Order: sequence, then C-alpha cells, then structure tokens
Amino acid sequence: MNSMGTAVSQRGSANSKTAWDVQTVRAAFPILKQKVHNKPLVYLDNAATTQKPAAVLDAILGFYKHDCSNVHRGVHQLSERATDAYEGARDTVRHFLNAKDIREVIFVRGATEAINLVAQTFGRRMLGAGDEIVITALEHHSDIVPWQILCEEKGARLSVVPIDDRGELRMDEFEKHLNPRVKLVCAAHVSNALGTVNPVREIVRLSHAEGIPVLLDGAQAAPHFRVDVQELDCDFYAFSGHKIYGPTGIGVLYGKSALLEAMPPYQGGGDMIRSVTFEKTLYNSLPYKFEAGTPHIAGAIGLGAALDYVTGLGQERTESYERGLLAYATEALSAIPDLRMIGTAREKAGVLSFVLNGIHPHDVGTVLDYEGIAVRTGHHCAQPVMDRFGVPATTRASLGLYNSREEIDALVAGIHKVKETFS
Ligand code: ALA
Repeated sequence: MNSMGTAVSQRGSANSKTAWDVQTVRAAFPILKQKVHNKPLVYLDNAATTQKPAAVLDAILGFYKHDCSNVHRGVHQLSERATDAYEGARDTVRHFLNAKDIREVIFVRGATEAINLVAQTFGRRMLGAGDEIVITALEHHSDIVPWQILCEEKGARLSVVPIDDRGELRMDEFEKHLNPRVKLVCAAHVSNALGTVNPVREIVRLSHAEGIPVLLDGAQAAPHFRVDVQELDCDFYAFSGHKIYGPTGIGVLYGKSALLEAMPPYQGGGDMIRSVTFEKTLYNSLPYKFEAGTPHIAGAIGLGAALDYVTGLGQERTESYERGLLAYATEALSAIPDLRMIGTAREKAGVLSFVLNGIHPHDVGTVLDYEGIAVRTGHHCAQPVMDRFGVPATTRASLGLYNSREEIDALVAGIHKVKETFS
C-alpha cells in the first residue's frame, strides 16, 4: 500500500470483496496522522465535516496547478480542460446518485443552499396563502428555516410530523399531515442530531399517492450508504461535499428534470442566461439555469474525486463496516453508568448522541479534546430535537469510514476521565 492508499482508493470492483482494513483506509487521510494535545487524534466529528483523502487534495491542487481557468467561456486549452473536468465531476455525481439525466444535477454550495434554492424557486411559485409544507421533527435548521421564511412571506403554514421517544418518525402521524393544501414534503434521510434513518421510501410513496412532491435532505445519508434517486423516486435530493470526504463550499441539488424545467431561476448572472437584452432575458437550459456566476470549479472537481474514492472503496463494504462500528460503539457507551443515549432508533447511521448526568456537554467536549478526541457538543443545529428530549445540548460522536474500534475504546476511556474529573 502506498501513501495514497491506492490499495483501496481505485474505482471498480477489484477491492470490493477484500476484507476491510481500517489502517489502509486511514493511510489515505494525511490529517489523521497528527497528535492533538500530545495524544493521537481521534476524529469523531464526521457529521460536522469529514476529513479529505489524498486523492481529493491532489485533485484540487492538480486543477490549480495545471488547469486553472474558467468554465464554459473560453476557447483556449486550459478552459477546455477545466470545463471537461467540471462537467466530468457532474457526470460522476449523476452516476453516484443514479440520476436519469445529467441535467438533473445542479452544483450548489451545500445542502443548505440546495434547500434554499428549492424554497425560493419551486416554493415561491407553488405556495399560496393557506398552503402547507410538511417537515419532520428531526430536521436540521437548514430544512426548517428556509420553509419558515417562505411560509411567512406567503401566509402559509409549516406542519411538523412528530417523533417518538426513540427518535423515530411517527409514521402513524405522517399520513394525517397530508392533505390537499400540502405543496411539498421535506424530510432528512438521516438525522444529524440522532442518526435516525427515516423511512424515506415510505414517505415518498405516501406523499406521491396524494400528488405531493418530496425533498430529501441527504447530507448525513450519502456518506454512509448508497443513494439511488430513481429507486427512492424522490423529487429533490440535497447533499454536501464536505460531509462525504470532499471539499467545503460545494454540494448538489438533484431534481427531477420536469420540475426543474418549470422552476424559475434562483440567482441571476453569467452562465445562467441564453441571451440578455435590456428588454428581455432568456434563460439557459438545465442545469446551467441554476448556476449563476463562476462556479466552485475546484470544489466540483474535488467532490468528483471524493465520490470516486467512496465508490472505489465499495459503498456496501463501507456501510457494513460502519454498521459494525456503530453497534460496537453503542454497546460500549450504553454500558457507561450515568450516560443516557439520546436517539435509540432501530435504524441508525453514524451518530451517537448522549448526555452525562450532571455534566454539561461543553465540559465533556473540552475534557475529551485534551485526550485528543474531537466530538461536537451543543444543539447540532437541531434545537427542536433537543427540546423534544428535554435537553439543551448533547455530546455527539459521529463516525466516518476511517474510524476504528480502538478509537471507540479511546472515547470510552475519555468519558470515564470526564466522569472522574467532575466527580
Ligand atoms: N450540520 C453539521 C452538523 O450536524 C454542521 O454538525
């Protein structure tokens, strides 16, 4: 194995049957080799952002070193190369999501912008006074606030499907929220605060039966398992590059072409037009209609490299490895006295949220940091979830494909240290 981790980073099935070697995977991530407070870094904040493999870093640097130019505009060699790389990344995304058509893949800043785009285009056009948008009680603020802004503007209403004590969506309640006034259903594929995997196929099926389109926030799902938008039959799907081992500032909105065609543009500027006069502007075709201005070219190229890396590892293998790691971590943490897990859904991915009796999560995070362990503490941009469980904040350990059982053991030892410190 070399420092790029090429034993596991190539696309294709060659490695898909070999055993998971977490040390080989880790070797592809230069940042993981460092020490923090003189302890080996244990990075368990992957739901906030993931680390980047050398293949992604090389792709970004390679663009700036050799091909840096604007896209879709120049006749010169560098611009052609940049355009090919940028559009190649779009095709990688299309393949990754199994979208039917490359025109259905729109590059945006991240899942947040993808959701805002839908709110400000589809939402603005479709929503009227007295209409409703259905969301779940598990949503991240980015799948709440854009809809609140829209509802306020339109005199419409946000309707929220509750969750139970495990942090599972109340599907018995879901159907009751569907009615002819509902113009869109929005749901997280995986909850960032609890790790709950929502029954999104069922959500789409029930919504479509009432003629209601569905937007899925896949920011916390795409890094953990295969997403097939045709199989899900969702109308919109959003995810962020930086949570799937790619760069920050780049993400994807998938939308069914018929919906995207009918939507007005999001932002005005270069590249999103076909022709401009002071009297009238004609808009560009999909997907460019939604990509005003110079895009994040290096970001898209880096995202393409990240998706190649993830698919090269084999998504089924990654899912199975992470499932085992989550089970191991859940058992280990649950055995710690005075620790209460927040979110115990039967289907979870990647996240362990917990509170320790009598110790504030920020203190937990600070002591863990001194042990070299990075976790997130706070409300995780999901304050309604915290309210539902009657806590102001949790400590959240979130897993990535490079985390090992030894790191979970280190987390458990760290939590014992927290308890000793505050006893
Ligand atoms: N949405 C990110 C998180 O859950 C930032 O931490």
